[in-house]
This record gives sequence, C-alpha cells and structure tokens, in this order.
Amino acid sequence: MKKFLLTSVLAASTACSMWAASTAACAGCHGATFEKKALGKSAVVKGWDAAKVEKALVGYKDGSYGGAMKAVMKGQVARLSPADIKDLAKQIAAMK
Ligand code: HEC
Repeated sequence: MKKFLLTSVLAASTACSMWAASTAACAGCHGATFEKKALGKSAVVKGWDAAKVEKALVGYKDGSYGGAMKAVMKGQVARLSPADIKDLAKQIAAMK
C-alpha cells in the first residue's frame, strides 16, 4: 500500500511538471508561436534563441529582468523549475 501511494504521488508530480512546461499556458498572451506582443507590451519572443528566452524567464523569476509589466511574467514563471524553464526555452526557440 505504501509503495502504491508513493508511486501515485510520483506519477502525479511528473504529470504536473509536464503541464507546467507547456507553452499552452503562454499562448493566450503571446500567441501560439510567440508571434504576438503580449498584452501589446512585450517584445515579440518568436525568433529568440533558447539562451535568450531562458535568461529572460530566469530573470523574471529572480527579479533581475523585465519592463513595466514584469509582475505579470513573475506570476507566470513562479511555479516553473529551472528544468521547466530550460525545456520551455528550447520549445520556444524551435517554433517556426
Ligand atoms: C497574462 C499574459 C501573459 C502570459 C500568460 C504569459 N506572458 Fe510572457 N509576457 C507578458 C508581458 C506583459 C510581458 C512583458 C513584461 C515586461 O514588461 O517585462 C511578457 C514578457 C515575456 C518574455 C520577455 C519578452 C520581453 O519583452 O522582454 C518572455 C520570454 C515571455 N514573456 C515568456 C512567456 C512564457 C514562456 C509564458 C508561459 C509560461 C508566458 N510568457 C506567459 C504577458 C504574459
């Protein structure tokens, strides 16, 4: 029984972090392929390389990056792990 519980907790948290690293959560503001200026304010992120996206997301998280609307992005990245951020940055850089 203990083993079963542990397995389900692990499975649930894996599913959770997969969800967190999906760009579906970003599409409403940035567009499905990050082709939009989010809320009319952000830079167009499409075309950025992974390192640049990662730097921005890590910066929003620790407060070292951003413009007038950075509080919006801080909320978006707060629950992402460093691995999630790397993963997202790769996905975004690969968008055509
Ligand atoms: C509620 C709308 C909203 C959502 C959802 C959102 N963003 Fe943003 N994003 C913004 C805004 C507004 C800015 C500009 C913030 C600022 O002033 O620095 C921004 C900026 C950015 C930037 C830097 C662009 C720049 O202007 O320097 C990146 C990269 C980014 N977002 C990625 C993401 C990712 C990845 C997600 C999903 C996990 C996401 N955003 C979800 C609104 C949003």
